[in-house]
Amino acid sequence: MYYETATNNHGLPHDPLKALVAPRPIGWISSLDTKGRPNLAPYSFFNLLSVNPSIVGFSSGTLKDSQRNIEVTGEFVCNFASVDLIDSINTTSKTVASDVNEFELAGLHEAKSRIIKAPRVLEARAHLECEYVKTVELPNDENDIIWSLVLGRVVAVHIDDDYIKDGLVDTLAMEPLTRMGYMDYGVLGSIETRQRP
Ligand SMILES: Cc1cc2nc3c(=O)[nH]c(=O)nc-3n(C[C@H](O)[C@H](O)[C@H](O)COP(=O)(O)O)c2cc1C
Repeated sequence: MYYETATNNHGLPHDPLKALVAPRPIGWISSLDTKGRPNLAPYSFFNLLSVNPSIVGFSSGTLKDSQRNIEVTGEFVCNFASVDLIDSINTTSKTVASDVNEFELAGLHEAKSRIIKAPRVLEARAHLECEYVKTVELPNDENDIIWSLVLGRVVAVHIDDDYIKDGLVDTLAMEPLTRMGYMDYGVLGSIETRQRP
């Protein structure tokens, strides 16, 4: 099949694009609002974009609480999304009033961060403490949803010691939860290793 995005005439019941750029890592973003209330939500338009400096980014479709909080407070945490937490992660995607604490909504616990004020998800196996860098508004036409790429610099990294084996992070054992298309999540099956040419 073939279609052009100007018309989106794919003829399918749902837009197939997100099922093609998959699996996507999930940035499970925690932040604080100006009154110090915690916020937590999953973002799968998310990735590590560079190292040294280590920059992460996620895209928000419309201005949501995470983006709003981060732009005002200047910090956030990317919590590691793992398969065992799928229902908690899913619950924290619920559209709720900005004063609702999604940690409580999903029965999760807060852990203090070391450098920033925003809390970490205690149950997560790794955390990136991040300082806000800037927001890049993505190109859009009239009537489009406005998407913004929120960039942050990783200033501290927490890893559960149980997942460090012979000096390497055992990502397979950490069971990263990923986002596929539609309502689907992905689970990592195996790892193949090759030396670079
Ligand atoms: C797995 C998953 C990934 C998501 N990824 C995104 C995303 O990349 N960008 C986005 O705007 N919304 C995304 N959402 C929806 C947000 O999580 C949802 O709108 C949430 O309520 C936003 O919360 P906030 O207002 O507290 O930031 C995703 C939802 C799920 C379940």
